[in-house]
Amino acid sequence: MIPPKPPARPDKVSLGRYMRLFRQDILSAQPARLYRAWMAEFKTPFFRSFLMNQPELVDEVLKQRPDDFPKSSRISEGLRPLLGESVFLTNGETWKRQRRIIDPAFEGGRLRDTFPAMWQAAEACVARMQGQAGQEVEVEEITSHAAADVIFRTLFSLPIEHEVASQVFHQFRAYQREQPILNIAAFVPLPRWIPRFHSRKTKATAKTIRDLITQLTTERMAQIEAGTAPNDLATKIMTTADPKTGDRFSTQEMVDQVAIFFLAGHETSASALAWTLYLMALYPEWQEKLAAEAQVLGAPEFSVMSKLRLSRDVFREALRLYPPVPMMVRQATCPERFRDRDVPKGSQIVLSPWHLHRHERLWDNPDGFDPTRWGTENGKKCQREAYMPFSAGARVCTGAGFAMVEGPLILSMILRAYRVERIEGRDPVPVAHLTVRSKDGIWLRLVRR
Ligand code: HEM
Repeated sequence: MIPPKPPARPDKVSLGRYMRLFRQDILSAQPARLYRAWMAEFKTPFFRSFLMNQPELVDEVLKQRPDDFPKSSRISEGLRPLLGESVFLTNGETWKRQRRIIDPAFEGGRLRDTFPAMWQAAEACVARMQGQAGQEVEVEEITSHAAADVIFRTLFSLPIEHEVASQVFHQFRAYQREQPILNIAAFVPLPRWIPRFHSRKTKATAKTIRDLITQLTTERMAQIEAGTAPNDLATKIMTTADPKTGDRFSTQEMVDQVAIFFLAGHETSASALAWTLYLMALYPEWQEKLAAEAQVLGAPEFSVMSKLRLSRDVFREALRLYPPVPMMVRQATCPERFRDRDVPKGSQIVLSPWHLHRHERLWDNPDGFDPTRWGTENGKKCQREAYMPFSAGARVCTGAGFAMVEGPLILSMILRAYRVERIEGRDPVPVAHLTVRSKDGIWLRLVRR
């Protein structure tokens, strides 16, 4: 059985129908030819947008000339009230400075320091699941909770049960329902002269979240000054000086960054883990292999990660089939010519991990689930050239290394304790809103081992 794939739309549809499809789900709004195309153009009355689906083109936009293709400001609009000037939204010098301060906190060596906190979150997740053994459960709910717990424990040394942490978690859910990251405006931008409204509710939710985070960062700044701060990611980021200018984040700047760590770091990991669990239910032989491998989990030592090879390959394959961020948008700052086509200044450049990861001219068995592919010639080549769940180049996800530890660790811990089973007639249907989610959740039966 092939893992679920959304139906493609017919090749030609009216703009009105396209917009309607788009609002439902950006994946099924696309035609099947995109799984074979190197480049495609979408023309609408207001704008032109180009999908880059060839490794060389993606390389040029993301790796060779990132400064010429900044983040499209249009995608930012829905997120500004919540994220302010966070590293996810900024461009140019502001963005470069922010990365210089943030990146050291996520380097390899620091991951080792963060590991015990991730481990505790994974254990807490398994413990919470105890009450649900024998039941049919919605796994996105479980993985969201776990991923939020990881963020709070690693960033602020707080478990998700902490009052402020738990409030932030619940308020974020409300915000996402009102204001998805990948809103329609990002792909089908309205002309500039149409004013944009954020509903009063969206603004109020954003303010509540920011007030809560301000509380955390203010407290932390005081602890840093008093010399009593714990050695976690927040302390690391707030005490790191920009190597170029010597300055640090102010408390307010840190609020913007914490908001994005939470948003970018928990929805995505949660989605990836939930899809991985579903795939395990679909391919029980793999599930058994991972459960056997997970017997190596003993003490919370970072070195154990090198023994969870199958878990990592499975997680990587899940990120290929269900990349949590299915598409990204950039803007051309000067006129370009790609594949003998004129790409005017201001065009939206769409990069689609979703399509690239299933490209029929690049991958062997593109829609199949095969974690052994990473050991094959084709798999290795495609991993280098056509695999970008974390984006690529200068703007690559800061949390990529972090996520590749967190994901396989939680997966292995869950499968050591429980078996997940497919529920007949309840297979998930992938749709893309904020992240690639399932239309009606991902339901599995949980059985204690
Ligand atoms: C499976 C988990 C994850 C996936 C698939 C993922 C994917 C991505 C992608 C595709 C981008 C680029 C978006 C764009 O260019 O439009 C991104 C950016 C980012 N991610 Fe992640 N992410 C994950 C986990 C995390 C975690 C755990 C953190 C932090 C704790 C994080 C923090 C960020 C930040 C700060 C950015 C903005 C980087 C920049 O623009 O310079 N992500 N992520």
